[in-house]
Amino acid sequence: MITNLWQRWRQELGIDLGTANTLVYVQGRGIIINQPSVVAVNTRTEQILAVGQEAKDMLGKTPPHIITTRPLTGGIISDFEIAEKMLRYFIEQVYHGATPGVLSRPKVVIGAPINITEVELRAIQDAVTHAGAREVWIVEEPMAAAIGSRLPIREPVGNMIIEIGGGTSEIAVISLSGITTRKSIKIAGDELNRNIVQYARDVFNLLLGERQAEEIKIKIGSAVSGEETKEFPMRGRDLITGLPREVMINDAQVREAMIKSLRTIVDSIKDILEITPPELVADIHERGLLLSGGGALLRGLDQLIQRALEIPVRLADDPLTAVVRGTGILLDEPELLREVAVFPELGKRSR
Ligand SMILES: Nc1ncnc2c1ncn2[C@@H]1O[C@H](COP(=O)(O)OP(=O)(O)OP(=O)(O)O)[C@@H](O)[C@H]1O
Ligand SMILES: [Mg+2]
Repeated sequence: MITNLWQRWRQELGIDLGTANTLVYVQGRGIIINQPSVVAVNTRTEQILAVGQEAKDMLGKTPPHIITTRPLTGGIISDFEIAEKMLRYFIEQVYHGATPGVLSRPKVVIGAPINITEVELRAIQDAVTHAGAREVWIVEEPMAAAIGSRLPIREPVGNMIIEIGGGTSEIAVISLSGITTRKSIKIAGDELNRNIVQYARDVFNLLLGERQAEEIKIKIGSAVSGEETKEFPMRGRDLITGLPREVMINDAQVREAMIKSLRTIVDSIKDILEITPPELVADIHERGLLLSGGGALLRGLDQLIQRALEIPVRLADDPLTAVVRGTGILLDEPELLREVAVFPELGKRSR
């Protein structure tokens, strides 16, 4: 009873600190924060003006003294100070605007990309500690996503998961609570947006904002051709006249813009299958692979991968929240957390 009350008051947290979105899961309550990882700062006063969706809405629309920044690049903290402030802001939201007191400082389980360096792990630990945590556990993102998707990761079977976020695509084969083969590439959802910006420039002489490009990708983008043509008005600045212009773009053109990146993702999955032990490959062949992360929502991506690899491909339920739900499950299962965490390194397994 006392333990229960204590736990409720303490509010242990699971965090998915992503390049595009940050989510916070509160033990016993569920996902409380789900916001873009964007911060708006007034450079004259060094004050934070907005965090999350409000800051994302300002992207590309700010006067010179206001900057909107993303503290993460390719899944890794690139602006430490802003990352810490953003985390502090989100954690305070959980505590209704207050900083957690000394006794209520939470334990935090947080996802990180695979293959990150010791220094980058420390940076995450420091940022989370400075933002108010008493204890930080780091779990690799595809591991967290697999746990969030309830894959049988503890069993001696090959579980393959591809977590496609904004900044990185992470490929992992998991068996007996460990990652056997893995790869992380910096081509994911946000790169597809940049591909569309580049295409608009090359083909239409149109300067397009990245938010517009993302909207086009989500509205009409797809990895394989569908039955009907989809079109969307693309608005930007004509690079020749300098004036605003609108051009219609269709799904085939969007696919053409993204195809090289999509092929790189497919080839990376192939590379991993090639170096995965044959027993595990046999399991994957039979059980298929799971796609998660926001980038996995691209229409037809599952079909593209399935056709290229001739392996069944399944999309996770609610792919955008798989990682944070995994960290939430790990808060309830400390033994599993000790098995899978890469930080603190408990000396129980090699990386
Ligand atoms: N319906 C959709 N179709 C295609 N892409 C989508 C869709 N919804 C979201 N995305 C893309 O998903 C990406 C964000 O996914 P997610 O929140 O999983 O990334 P993240 O965890 O912040 O990044 P990372 O894990 O790489 O650090 C963005 O690039 C976004 O454009
Ligand atoms: Mg992610």
